[in-house]
Amino acid sequence: MTVLVTGAAGFIGSHTVERLLSRRDEEGRGEDVIGLDNFDDFYAPERKRRNLEEAARHQQRPGQFEFVQGDVRDRALLARLFEQHSFRAVIHLAARVGMGASIENPWPYYDVNVTGTLNLLEAVRSQPEVRHVQGKRANFVFASTALVYGRTEVIPFVETDPADRPLAPYPASKRAAELLGHTYHHLHGIDFTSVRFFTVYGPRGRPEMIAYKVLNSAFGGEPVPYHNEGQMHRDWTFVDDIVSGILAAADHRLGYEVFNLGRGEPVLLADFVETLQFVAGRNARLQPVPMPASDVRYTYAGIDKAQRVLGYHPRISFEEGIQRFYSWYMQHVQPAGPAAGA
Ligand SMILES: NC(=O)c1ccc[n+]([C@@H]2O[C@H](COP(=O)([O-])OP(=O)(O)OC[C@H]3O[C@@H](n4cnc5c(N)ncnc54)[C@H](O)[C@@H]3O)[C@@H](O)[C@H]2O)c1
Repeated sequence: MTVLVTGAAGFIGSHTVERLLSRRDEEGRGEDVIGLDNFDDFYAPERKRRNLEEAARHQQRPGQFEFVQGDVRDRALLARLFEQHSFRAVIHLAARVGMGASIENPWPYYDVNVTGTLNLLEAVRSQPEVRHVQGKRANFVFASTALVYGRTEVIPFVETDPADRPLAPYPASKRAAELLGHTYHHLHGIDFTSVRFFTVYGPRGRPEMIAYKVLNSAFGGEPVPYHNEGQMHRDWTFVDDIVSGILAAADHRLGYEVFNLGRGEPVLLADFVETLQFVAGRNARLQPVPMPASDVRYTYAGIDKAQRVLGYHPRISFEEGIQRFYSWYMQHVQPAGPAAGA
């Protein structure tokens, strides 16, 4: 069987590809994986190529993984892929990411996150019947975000919250794509599961994320804008746990469902940064800035539903996660200097 992973060269995408290639299916062999990514320039494409190389090393046999450089906005390309392959699942991680950048320039967020998702939903809807797996169209797993909850007062965040007050174009685009998923489920019977990630970090993390910036600064790089003096909580979730949740969603056919994938244990940003500095044995230059209007004081995942339905159990404590992130950074980023890959 074959799984399509969009955004395969990215942070979470490359870990997802790696895990799919490494695990064994019922027949004792790993599944085939097609990875799609356009190497967008939100951060260095060179970093993404390295992510892909590292993930592809986990193939169990030659040809198990195929990479296609292409864009989810290219409908003809998607049609070709769905004619050529029998996808049992689509794991759709490709996106324009970032809150601040989406306020500056919202258009690509809608083109990629909304229209791109629509294109993929259409490709699944039009999947030729000979390409159905066990009589079914591909199971659609969509990467959403905790930011769809905006400043909800329901804490921990639960999936029954209407999530209808996003604070920036990025989460609004993700919520819009979830709604399209519901429409395609309703009209065409497509299985669509949205997984809402809570502050993911770990090896291959994106250079603009706080953990990365703190280490860059600690090793001589730029000062780090430090929102609200670190007085905000984030439900940091290690990338391996997120990938477990993604694969569980891809392995279950659930109609239309939404799940929070977090750790369920928010940590104060100030504590996260302090622990990272302690592990590094160095301090970053933290530059206090007020909290932007698009930001929230709290993210806190209610994960009961994911635990019950998907068997999702996050395992990596934030101390261990920080240690692992630090080891990766020292091996892969620090030798090239703090600006590498930014
Ligand atoms: N990292 C987090 O904390 C977090 C939190 C919530 C949600 N998410 C979601 O998880 C997914 C993966 O995020 P990530 O952190 O790995 O980011 P990332 O930027 O590392 O990965 C996204 C990948 O998508 C690719 N891409 C962008 N536009 C594309 C297009 N038009 N066609 C094909 N590929 C395209 C990029 O080149 C990149 O490799 C995204 O959908 C993101 O919105 C991430």
